[in-house]
Amino acid sequence: MRDLQAYANIVNARLEAIPEVVPEGRFAVGEMPWLLSESMRYSLSAGGKRLRPAMLLAAVEMLGGSIGDALDYACAVEMIHTYSLIHDDLPGMDNDTLRRGRPTNHVVFGEGQAILAGDGLLNCAFETMLKAAADRPDRALDCLLAMREIATGAGVTGMIAGQVMDLYCEANNIGDVNALQYIQRNKTACMFIYPLRAAARLCEAGEEALRALTDYGRAFGLLFQATDDLLDVTGDQENMGKTLGKDAESGKLTCVSAYGVEGTRALVERLHREALCALEPFGERAAFFAALVDSMVDRTK
Ligand code: IPE
Ligand code: IPE
Ligand code: MG
Ligand code: MG
Ligand code: MG
Repeated sequence: MRDLQAYANIVNARLEAIPEVVPEGRFAVGEMPWLLSESMRYSLSAGGKRLRPAMLLAAVEMLGGSIGDALDYACAVEMIHTYSLIHDDLPGMDNDTLRRGRPTNHVVFGEGQAILAGDGLLNCAFETMLKAAADRPDRALDCLLAMREIATGAGVTGMIAGQVMDLYCEANNIGDVNALQYIQRNKTACMFIYPLRAAARLCEAGEEALRALTDYGRAFGLLFQATDDLLDVTGDQENMGKTLGKDAESGKLTCVSAYGVEGTRALVERLHREALCALEPFGERAAFFAALVDSMVDRTK
């Protein structure tokens, strides 16, 4: 069984082969400005746990598919995630200056260029998936369905919707638990649920697998955001590679603001059990996913 690092290595190697994102030398692709590829690469290659693409690949392996057929979709998910972080850090959003252990994209390249680097990564994600799909006309429908899952998770009823409500509640001092649940499901869990569903589509998995992966992705994603909220209060900035203590300062609606530290820990325990329970249909084949969620409960980065 491969571990998270093994999948991350596979993803990183493939990302380096996508010329628009990680160009060789100082020359950008075609008419693309060097500044744009530089700023996209700055955030994409700054590290990051590669959780979402790793989970997509692990799901494909679990379902008997081939990693090679799924790799471009995994890279696309990481590009979308990285774009969401660049935009999340902008002065108009969370206004953060540290990400993945480096000054944030807008601190280095300026706000306008950071917006464009995010836009560029989002577009490149879809170009990458469309190229992969065009190379497999024999599997056109599976590719299309996988792309649709990824677009849904990242989109206006997924991650973007969650980010909109996150900012809205912060600006309007809304402390409602229903709003919190909406935010966390959309801004974070959707970026786990839908890449897992994309893996199921690429493997032509049945309804039961699709449902189980959706349930696991939801519990995992909510647990991940709950621990992110906890770590903002209790974590170590060096380990996390981002500025901590900002949520309370900016009046963000988080698990900690709604449930307190102990209440959030109890929620994490509950979501942990839910995630493991969702894996039951897969039995032993889900060992990677069971170990992964176990490791998230007490994560330090
Ligand atoms: C950060 O995600 C954004 C949240 C949903 C909390 P990660 O913690 O996965 O960030 P990287 O990719 O490892 O930098
Ligand atoms: C971010 O949530 C979720 C995204 C869609 C990027 P946070 O705002 O809590 O993430 P961090 O703490 O900045 O990584
Ligand atoms: Mg945010
Ligand atoms: Mg943030
Ligand atoms: Mg956070």
